[in-house]
Amino acid sequence: MHDIIEQLEQKRAAARLGGGQKRIDAQHAKGKLTARERLELLLDEGTFEEWDLFVEHRCVDFGMAENRPPGDGVVTGYGMINGRLAFVFSQDFTVFGGALSEAHAEKICKVMDQAMKVGAPVIGLNDSGGARIQEGVASLGGYAEVFQRNVLASGVVPQISLIMGPCAGGAVYSPAMTDFIFMVKDSSYMFVTGPEVVKTVTHETVTAEELGGAISHTTKSGVADLAFDNDVEAILMLRRFYNYLPLNNRETPPVRPSGDPADRLDFSLDTLVPDNPNRPYEIKELITKVADNGDFFELQPDYAANIVVGFARMDGQTVGIVANNPQVLAGCLDIRSSIKAARFVRFCDAFSIPVITFVDVPGFLPGTSQEYGGIIKHGAKLLYAYAECTVPKVTVIIRKAYGGAYDVMSSKHLRGDVNLAWPSAEIAVMGAKGAVEIIFREDKSDVAKLAAREAEYKARFANPFIAGARGYIDDVIQPHETRKRICRSLVMLKNKQLENPWRKHGNIPL
Ligand code: HXC
Repeated sequence: MHDIIEQLEQKRAAARLGGGQKRIDAQHAKGKLTARERLELLLDEGTFEEWDLFVEHRCVDFGMAENRPPGDGVVTGYGMINGRLAFVFSQDFTVFGGALSEAHAEKICKVMDQAMKVGAPVIGLNDSGGARIQEGVASLGGYAEVFQRNVLASGVVPQISLIMGPCAGGAVYSPAMTDFIFMVKDSSYMFVTGPEVVKTVTHETVTAEELGGAISHTTKSGVADLAFDNDVEAILMLRRFYNYLPLNNRETPPVRPSGDPADRLDFSLDTLVPDNPNRPYEIKELITKVADNGDFFELQPDYAANIVVGFARMDGQTVGIVANNPQVLAGCLDIRSSIKAARFVRFCDAFSIPVITFVDVPGFLPGTSQEYGGIIKHGAKLLYAYAECTVPKVTVIIRKAYGGAYDVMSSKHLRGDVNLAWPSAEIAVMGAKGAVEIIFREDKSDVAKLAAREAEYKARFANPFIAGARGYIDDVIQPHETRKRICRSLVMLKNKQLENPWRKHGNIPL
């Protein structure tokens, strides 16, 4: 018996070494942690339960029969993050470059299936050279098995991807279907075709980092949510992020008492909005002043910054925040910001997270690039997302709420539950200047007359009371009481029940 136990320990020790010390050293030399070191950091100490340590690949071609490292290049199992269950897989670049074989895929599928059965998120740490070249189509089949599970898990359990090394070719499509993607600067990249293929086909010269690095995907493509300096920072931020999320779509997000009074007033908000309606202000100042302890976990801060999205807590409860940002494109909605916010709203809706919307939007961004790019269809995504959303929706109109964008931004007409406005709100079809230029076209040459008309229009429409008179907003509130009013609304909405009509699925304008 003693011998058998010893053999087991030896087997385990060998498995834990992955591709061997030399390759571990190479991994460290690149500034990367190993698959196991990453899991040690991610999960609460001593909670990792590993599965399938002894799984081996079944390939016999190209000398592979003699090379069967236990675990086959991916470490899988489950553990706790701040005391809450999470399923994990962590690709081991030291074993065949983390390349995905049939057996490697089966291990990932196994944890995904179990996560679905028990209702817990799946976190994937990706560091892989892609399909295991020696296995060919068996590897492609393995990918598709993972893709299928990504889709079935979508909206059932949160799925989070950390890209911590290469992720190329079709392999990118598994992370792409997860809810959130975090990347590490300088050591991770994602692309469908690499720099060499790009050079051959389009004659563009581009580095892997430029083509698919963390900065490119968090500023240009919007594929990733956040970029971190190194593995440690990415993992620690993921642990923090995890605290906001429910484990599955049947439970509500965790409540974390903050000690921050729900009725706290903040008088500095009374002077946040400048007198000149064309001057911007810092919308994140408003968010942090309203949220519990000023804590706001922003997603995609450097992509489509004309809209701000992220998680915060109100009286301990996780909420999703969506806010137009007047500092970028004057807060206009465009293609990118519509898609960014729509996806966020849909995540919140799928996982019972109330949506708080702060509105200051002069409309949709005009121009041929927007029209040719399909702003009609993409803008409709946000409209669709808000209209379909059944979680509690609280909307506060801070300043401009013009035109179609007024409707889109969680208006009363899209089943907004509580719609409030600051006294500075301007709820109208359009800005006063544009409006008088159209309806008083005949006065165009008379500057003084046009100015008088503009002032008249402004006095009449640039306020929250016309909408208030129709009940489109529930109340005009003092800025300093915004937190209190939102917290009260959320208490009132705690047991909200609202169902959409039965259907197989809607047809969001993709
Ligand atoms: C098998 C692989 C591998 C792969 C890397 N290795 N990728 N083994 N299948 N796909 C092995 C290498 O042979 C090497 O083994 C070890 O992993 C480390 O690789 P290096 O090249 O030494 O590392 P590095 O210089 O850091 O370069 C990493 C890399 C490069 C950029 C990922 O290895 C690479 O280009 N690999 C091939 C990528 C690729 O073409 N994948 C298939 C894409 S198609 P030793 O024994 O020397 O340590 C695809 C389709 C998916 O993925 C479709 C899904 C639908």
